[in-house]
Amino acid sequence: MFKINEEYLKLPGSYLFSTIAKKVAAFSEENPEAKIIRLGIGDVTQQLATAIIDALHKAVDEMGAAETFRGYAPDLGYEFLRNAIAENDYKARGCEIAADEIFISDGAKCDSGNIQEIFSKDNKIAVCDPVYPVYVDTNVMAGRTGTYDPERETWSDVIYMPCTKETNFAPSLPKETPDLIYLCFPNNPTGSTITKSQLQEWVDYANKNGCVIIYDAAYEAYISEADVPHSVYECEGARTCAIELRSFSKNAGFTGVRLGFTVIPKELKAGSVSLHSLWARRHGTKYNGAPYIVQRAGEAVYSEAGKAQLKEQVAYYMRNAAYIKNGLKDAGYEVSGGVNAPYIWLKAPGGMTSWEFFDDLLRRAHVVGTPGSGFGPSGETYFRLTAFGSYENTVEAIDRIKAL
Ligand code: MLT
Repeated sequence: MFKINEEYLKLPGSYLFSTIAKKVAAFSEENPEAKIIRLGIGDVTQQLATAIIDALHKAVDEMGAAETFRGYAPDLGYEFLRNAIAENDYKARGCEIAADEIFISDGAKCDSGNIQEIFSKDNKIAVCDPVYPVYVDTNVMAGRTGTYDPERETWSDVIYMPCTKETNFAPSLPKETPDLIYLCFPNNPTGSTITKSQLQEWVDYANKNGCVIIYDAAYEAYISEADVPHSVYECEGARTCAIELRSFSKNAGFTGVRLGFTVIPKELKAGSVSLHSLWARRHGTKYNGAPYIVQRAGEAVYSEAGKAQLKEQVAYYMRNAAYIKNGLKDAGYEVSGGVNAPYIWLKAPGGMTSWEFFDDLLRRAHVVGTPGSGFGPSGETYFRLTAFGSYENTVEAIDRIKAL
């Protein structure tokens, strides 16, 4: 008789954004006249930039002619894209990352979930609290997190690093030494950031204690302040302790197109074994690469036209962020984030829990956000709004909330 992976049964509830989608669908069915504005999941709403559309069209035409048709992509991604990334995302920022240390994928969500596979089950993970749920859930599936305490909503074998108002929503170095440290800056969900010298402390800590930092930089395009690092490799010593995850979803609107990459420097080793070789082995065995046309679209992100158009797109979303932040502040809400990130983190008013505020906002303002407690216990009584809506919907949503 076959047996299932029982670790899956330990997962409490469904994936956060699936739970929200179900609740909103039920509300919508009961209230068909309600014009619901969705500022919950961080999904983009603006059309792809013309430089990207042009690249997609061109690549589709190439696929329609035998001389330019492409079959399987190279395991680790096309050279043209890996070179563009190495040049623009790393060399231009003074980071020493070679094209063959970059692994192209269909997005950072998959990579952030899959990366734990190359580590032994008995590694201990440390996560920020609140945190993007994929990091913890995928470690639960792998059997790495111990037992779940439903009261505290925590796992016995996970080190939680509270990110609260008192810590400026940044983690402190943990008391117990972890093996794997997940960091995401600019942060999802709180929209907070850390400075380069603060990130350097994490890199030094990881090198000293033999930890690996899994650094999720999916939101780096939203950084507006000079002292905030765009990549962990801006820190000295990061090549021996850090993996970086990047996405084209948020900087170029690829949530439905799907493209991302992971960087593993060749010096990152466990004894004589390089993590680069393990991930390359995994990639080669389990993955046939992002589509050629999508990788060409990714290349266009780094063209002069692409860069200029995407700068405008980021500015569009950041105008929403400013509207949300200032509007809620004026209305007396306690708000943070929204300066280097497309997320605004706010305190639920009147002592409501995160889910109570979610229900209240949906019922009275027909606005959807994300309950902070869905990201971890320290997120309780907080709420996340995304700046990825259209400007018109964002203005209407905030005006509705202000009128409550
Ligand atoms: C979020 O809303 O946290 C993100 O959209 C989720 C993701 O990028 O997978």
